[in-house]
Amino acid sequence: MLVVNRREFLRGAGVGAASLFFSQLNAQAVRFDASQDENLFSSYYNNEKYRPQFHFTPKRNWMNDPNGLVYYKGEYHLFFQHNPKGKNWGNMTWGHAVSEDLVHWLQLPDAIEPDELGTIFSGSAVVDWNNTAGLQTGKGKVIVAIYTSAGDFAPDKKPFTQSIAYSNDCGRTWKKYEKNPVLGHIAGQNRDPKVIWHKSSRRWVMALYLNDNDYTLFSSKNLKDWSRLCDINLAGASECPDIFELAVDGNAKNRRWVFWAANGSYVLGTFDGEKFNKESDILLAETGANFYAAQTFSNIPETDGRRIQIAWMRGGRYPDMPFNQQMSFPCELTLRTFPEGIRLCRQPVREIEKIQSKEYRWKNKTLKTGDNLLCDISGELFHVCAEIEPVNAAEFGIKVHGEAVNYNVSKNELSCLGRKASLKPLSGKIRLEILIDRTSIEVFCDDGRVSMSSCFLPKPEEKTLEIYTKDGEVKITSLRVYKLRSIWQKTII
Ligand code: FRU
Repeated sequence: MLVVNRREFLRGAGVGAASLFFSQLNAQAVRFDASQDENLFSSYYNNEKYRPQFHFTPKRNWMNDPNGLVYYKGEYHLFFQHNPKGKNWGNMTWGHAVSEDLVHWLQLPDAIEPDELGTIFSGSAVVDWNNTAGLQTGKGKVIVAIYTSAGDFAPDKKPFTQSIAYSNDCGRTWKKYEKNPVLGHIAGQNRDPKVIWHKSSRRWVMALYLNDNDYTLFSSKNLKDWSRLCDINLAGASECPDIFELAVDGNAKNRRWVFWAANGSYVLGTFDGEKFNKESDILLAETGANFYAAQTFSNIPETDGRRIQIAWMRGGRYPDMPFNQQMSFPCELTLRTFPEGIRLCRQPVREIEKIQSKEYRWKNKTLKTGDNLLCDISGELFHVCAEIEPVNAAEFGIKVHGEAVNYNVSKNELSCLGRKASLKPLSGKIRLEILIDRTSIEVFCDDGRVSMSSCFLPKPEEKTLEIYTKDGEVKITSLRVYKLRSIWQKTII
């Protein structure tokens, strides 16, 4: 294991020449050790009132969709739609950050920059294990990014097309394929290619957004030549598709394919490598106020086996901050059967444990109107897990820095920051998991059967937590509250 500090990690200086560093990076695990870095985060992250403390934000300027989520050699890569020149949308470029644990992120230099084909819109990344594209130059595998060349924003305006770029040094430097684009214009502002390896047909499959509510699938043997497979229409949805297969209730023999759109809607179905057959209505996996353009990681090792997703928390406000917008906390996706049918569930990844600090626990407590078990706890960052039996209360919930995550018993309705989701108790209980950062509240119920991701701007002096009931009692069968540490502290990794 090679341990380097951040500057060395970025520049490759730690082992002499950059090329040597990169070949070593491909040959062995390299760790950056932030404790070796002199003034690591002080210049960026301290004393910024609205800087999220455990959600990814770029150091500076605008960010939107997560792009190119891929795991390779111990690193999760998070590329993102980035305007390197300002705090509003524009000049779309792929920004880049890496993490060893999905929690602590290190921003690297921008990866892919605009060219004569256009600015660089959203897309995905894969590890080309079999060198199908012939772009691998060394012993390590090549990472290939597939993105939209947004021709409207080219020096000479042209249609939107799809292009590729590749990296032979673990994502540290990128080259564009000289014969771009690899897929010509089809319709409208066609964009956001999400490419996966389809195991049984041994070829690549691309999901692409076309126009209106239309998507289409393509296949390719080499990531360069694509042929159209079938079209998918998803009423009410547009942009940023994703496609993946999941076991139902953990049963590897009972699987469904999920076709996903930017607004968090999805359909379940079958996919044989040629045709996607819908088998469900259009369902909604997310009902929060700020969730968009989510994407899942490719190349997660089979030994891990999780389907991990990150979304852009669209529309958050960050007054006077040097950056604009934040990502959601990474979630694991599963398919679970409920009385209403099979549903896609989202739950925070277990790595959240890495930043848990002080823990408070209660079991089997009766809560009456006016009681608050959490009155002695104050802070900014929390992870709350609660299991509550309504008994005879009309409403109950948890107030986070003054904002209620409220459950209305007669309506079977959960609400938070102006959004509502219907939720019937399972075995007479409501199970809530809540992540609270400086500018966001993410709520998950029943292992992610309901998920609501929302941004907010609390008064800075609001540091309270409250668990409450209205017009009756509830039984708190279990309550755990963890204070969370900032990811921008030196205790990183
Ligand atoms: C979704 C989106 C994508 C596009 C990108 C541009 O938020 O509009 O369709 O590729 O953002 O930044």
